[in-house]
Amino acid sequence: MFTSFLLQLLLFSVSLIPNSSAQSAHDTVTDPTKRAEYAFTTLQTWYNASTGIWDSTGWWNSANIMTMVGNLAKTEPKNQRLQKLAARIFANTVMQAPAKNPQPGIENEASRGQDVNKTFALSNRTDPEDWLDGFYDDDLWWALAWINAYDITSNPKYLHLAEGIFAAVTKAWPTRCGNGGIFWSWEEEYMNAIANELFMSTAAHLANRMDEEDRKKEYVAWAERTLDWFLSSGMINERGTINDGLTEDCENNDRTTWSYNQGVILGALVQLNKATPNPTYLALAACIAKAAIIELSDVDGVIHDICEPECGGDGTQFKGIFIRNLQILHEAAPDDAYAEVININAESIWVNDRDGNAFSVNWAGPFVRPANASTQSSAMDALVAAIAVH
Ligand SMILES: *[C@@H]1O[C@H](CO)[C@@H](O)[C@H](O)[C@H]1NC(C)=O
Ligand SMILES: *[C@@H]1O[C@H](CO)[C@@H](O)[C@H](O)[C@H]1NC(C)=O
Ligand SMILES: *[C@@H]1O[C@H](CO)[C@@H](O)[C@H](O)[C@H]1NC(C)=O
Ligand SMILES: *[C@@H]1O[C@H](CO)[C@@H](O)[C@H](O)[C@H]1NC(C)=O
Repeated sequence: MFTSFLLQLLLFSVSLIPNSSAQSAHDTVTDPTKRAEYAFTTLQTWYNASTGIWDSTGWWNSANIMTMVGNLAKTEPKNQRLQKLAARIFANTVMQAPAKNPQPGIENEASRGQDVNKTFALSNRTDPEDWLDGFYDDDLWWALAWINAYDITSNPKYLHLAEGIFAAVTKAWPTRCGNGGIFWSWEEEYMNAIANELFMSTAAHLANRMDEEDRKKEYVAWAERTLDWFLSSGMINERGTINDGLTEDCENNDRTTWSYNQGVILGALVQLNKATPNPTYLALAACIAKAAIIELSDVDGVIHDICEPECGGDGTQFKGIFIRNLQILHEAAPDDAYAEVININAESIWVNDRDGNAFSVNWAGPFVRPANASTQSSAMDALVAAIAVH
């Protein structure tokens, strides 16, 4: 036990800042890269080498944490320690995490009701089935995380995994609404925004990573088909923001406009525009981004979800996903308004919502005890986004 603890420290903890990794950060740290690295030291205290996911948070959250870690690594391509650490995390998670899948086999009729062989799941292989838990949004968070891991490592195994997950989720198409879209889960009841935005985003990301023109076209077609369905579904309201999903009668259900639902679609449209340029894609992204900023910001420009400070296991992750994707839009179609939102939020997190190197749920503060890997990584999405716009 002691040995494995040491091994974990050695392999997965962060000492990116020479001579100071053990110290806590303070208000005077202004360099965005240093801020993110300090935050990373605390995040990695939750990384569990034997499960491949982060303690104190859930399955789908860990996919998002992995994406954030990848994005941090992308900001510092010459930092060898960071590159190696990120690669080690991907390599460990791909082997260990399948055993933590909360509902393994549920999407596969044949294996429903059977015990899943955990020994097999722990072997050195990559099987898309391992990453399916019955919730198609969860599946696709992992697909996006593995695409990011592929970008950083160039390991084709990760790309194949993402392709396999996407292929598995196509079975959820179409829903009973408008003869398109995917359901939220294997129960085939609810049609929601997040699963469909992720489906579009994964297809568009994959399109940009295919060598063969035919494969690329297939993914572009899926992304465009999903966008068309999404636009006609009524999920975008009259204010220009996106509600949670559809009613039984296939109409906008007027439920919460969660921040992440205003975010994932931005990254999807940027990737789709890259695969098949069309000015309407970035124009639509700008409309949604601006409507969301108006709707979700407080008077100081800090983004909120209405669940704060009791956001539970899921809601804590949302705001980081919005900022992460806003930065992607800013990179493709720069706008001072986006840079301002990113900087204001990163600054507020650092100054108002920090305890040592830990960050909590309300970015305007005060710090809510205890922080966990979800609040930490979500805040880090903003800290990492701020590196790029600095
Ligand atoms: C890691 O996860 C395992 C399995 O859930 C658990 O027993 C252990 O306490 C966790 N933490 C560490 C530091 O190993
Ligand atoms: C589980 O999978 C492992 C590895 O393939 C195999 O050796 C073992 O016999 C399997 N166990 C069961 C109960 O099927
Ligand atoms: C897993 O398989 C890959 C090849 O696909 C190999 O390079 C790697 O060393 C293997 N890892 C382990 C722990 O067996
Ligand atoms: C993480 O922290 C948030 C905010 O304090 C809390 O609502 C959530 O339940 C915590 N997550 C877990 C898994 O305990």
